[in-house]
Amino acid sequence: MAKKRILSGMRPSGRLHLGNYAGALENWVQLQKEYDCFYFIADWHALTTDAEAAFTVKENTLQMVIDWLSSGIDPQQPIFIQSRVKAHAELHLLFSMLITTARLERNPTLKEQIRDLKAETMIYGHLGYPVLQAADILIYKANVVPVGEDQAPHVEITRELARKFNQTYDEVFPEPETRLTQFARLPGLDGRKMGKSNDNYILLSDTPEQIEKRVRTAITDPQKIRRNDPGRPDICNVFAFHKKFNQAEIQDIREGCETGALGCVACKKNCAQKIADFFAPHREKRAYYEAHMDEVQEIIELGVSKANEIAAQTMDEVHNVMKMG
Ligand code: TRP
Repeated sequence: MAKKRILSGMRPSGRLHLGNYAGALENWVQLQKEYDCFYFIADWHALTTDAEAAFTVKENTLQMVIDWLSSGIDPQQPIFIQSRVKAHAELHLLFSMLITTARLERNPTLKEQIRDLKAETMIYGHLGYPVLQAADILIYKANVVPVGEDQAPHVEITRELARKFNQTYDEVFPEPETRLTQFARLPGLDGRKMGKSNDNYILLSDTPEQIEKRVRTAITDPQKIRRNDPGRPDICNVFAFHKKFNQAEIQDIREGCETGALGCVACKKNCAQKIADFFAPHREKRAYYEAHMDEVQEIIELGVSKANEIAAQTMDEVHNVMKMG
């Protein structure tokens, strides 16, 4: 039996941090064993919140793809760039005739973004963000879409558009299933969500020295002031990193912290070391790809051409059932 198809994408944010890894990338790597996986860079989507992102997209895309490959994304599977597959734009246009603005205005993820941007008015393309996302997904007839919780409303809109299109014209699209990424939330070093704009992140590509410096700035239990004060691991950000990257010692660290035998300085040093060890193979692969950028380009070109081929087949079906185009 043919493997089911997975599709997922990220906006081009450049080098990835541990939050991106724990929240998506690690899962993407695992899914490759069971599914036919298409992963892409949603560079048009980056423009919905910042039109000038266009100027940094190219470099950010390359850096992100290098992090994907270095983490174990299989270069044999298509890795491609949205803006290089123009058919996404055509399908987006056709889908935009099948959904109301009222439905799009109800999207909770959009409301949150508008609130974060403190924007008073809405960019037309931003309202249509999930319509473009639906085109991304359905043009490859993906069966499963692994995303974080914030993206689930977009997959729901995708399902509605698939149904609406099939009812209006004829059966072309499957209704994809949302696969929520399961992970213990990895906080930023200050306890907020890890993000580039928060200066609370560790990059996958950071050197052991950089990692140690970053971990030193992490906020621990504020009640553990002196080395021997008892601490509360469950509210400590460093403990959250131990849970993810240092399972083997987790009981000892909990005990040491709670009894006051283990101080934060030593605990952080150990944590930084474990993170650095965990990503040692990543850094090694990254060095390889940085020295072989032509290979990275080739992988992308191959992905783009595979994606274009499949997208063109779907668009043929679309044109047929619509009797136009
Ligand atoms: N909106 C997604 C995000 O910001 C990125 C994305 C665009 C995507 N198109 C997609 C994810 C299609 C999954 C499927 O994370």
